Amino acid sequence: MATALTLPFEVQAHPAPVSDAERTRLIADPGFGKIFTDHMVVVRYSVDKGWHDAQVKPRGPIAIDPACAVLHYAQEIFEGLKAYRMPDGNVSLFRPEANARRFADSARRLAMPEVPEELFLESIRAIVEADRSWIPTVEGGSLYLRPFMFASEVFLGVKPASEYYYMVIASPAGAYFKGGAPAVSLWVSDDYSRAGPGGTGAAKCGGNYAASLLPQSQAIAQGCDQVVFLDAAEHKWVEELGGMNVFFVFEDGSMLTPPLGTILPGITRDSLMTLARDAGIAVREERYSIDQWKADAESGRLREAFACGTAAVVTPIGAVRGTSVDFKIGNGGPGVLTSELRAKLVAIQRGEAADPHGWVKRLF
Ligand code: PLP
Ligand code: COI
Repeated sequence: MATALTLPFEVQAHPAPVSDAERTRLIADPGFGKIFTDHMVVVRYSVDKGWHDAQVKPRGPIAIDPACAVLHYAQEIFEGLKAYRMPDGNVSLFRPEANARRFADSARRLAMPEVPEELFLESIRAIVEADRSWIPTVEGGSLYLRPFMFASEVFLGVKPASEYYYMVIASPAGAYFKGGAPAVSLWVSDDYSRAGPGGTGAAKCGGNYAASLLPQSQAIAQGCDQVVFLDAAEHKWVEELGGMNVFFVFEDGSMLTPPLGTILPGITRDSLMTLARDAGIAVREERYSIDQWKADAESGRLREAFACGTAAVVTPIGAVRGTSVDFKIGNGGPGVLTSELRAKLVAIQRGEAADPHGWVKRLF
């Protein structure tokens, strides 16, 4: 059925929001993903009614039936973006239309209904408006927004569900890595891949993250911060981390990042490629093997490597280990170009630098 492009949101303010003093305490050192705001967005979908019942309401548990499809077949997708407080006190988002489009792409891959772009953007605006006092004022702070959708039909047959919840929650955020690590260490997964040709690697679905948890635990057990995945077919080509894309910087000043296909098309990845090309840096989207990575790091041809994503922003990679590799990158700390690109991106996101590509969307 034809769905309206957006819906009026019924706003029900929290009757007993967190006190000013407690909120100030919580957002002083928020970490990542632990603290939540007072409100949430809930929008319902059914095949018969399309999108309906758009609400901003007090955040709290939702009751779902034990036979709810998502609990059995994982028909679920999500997004991640941040709201920033600008130097003039206004609040902005970074490329939210790109998140809306990726959410629609993920929905198609998981046989779910698309949330119209206007409705997605309005839902984000509505929760940020309700919870704008939760945006941390600490250096590097932002309000992390987590839109997600799941199949809510009560039915155990394996088929695309006929009913869904679309929701948005918000979480004040600081650095993703504890202690704001200067550089992270990676563990190369020998036994597992994140995605394969024809699979769901390019979609932001919860199942991809579930599949990454065992290899990620192995990385932690090996004393590393993150797992890095190789391709499923040849187990040779570097793909990405569990929740971040990856870039390589060479001695001639050029950059390389793995091509799209089985990886998540990161918005940070795309933005950094654009900023690098603006600065005259050659950026290739090409396959890069783990053996080449090791050889280039050891010969000095590779100068820097970094991970990037909404949560991680730009995080230098200092060392790579696995059952058959163990090498350092550069001096093991942040590289020069990595630091420059990070500073450039963050300055645009926070309204401290010109925004030549029109990426920053001011809300209010
Ligand atoms: N790759 C994966 C698997 C991710 O979960 C993320 C985070 O969203 C990214 C890459 C980076 O994407 P973005 O820059 O759009 O946040
Ligand atoms: C993000 O950067 O938004 C992510 O989704 C990565 C991770 C927190 C899942």
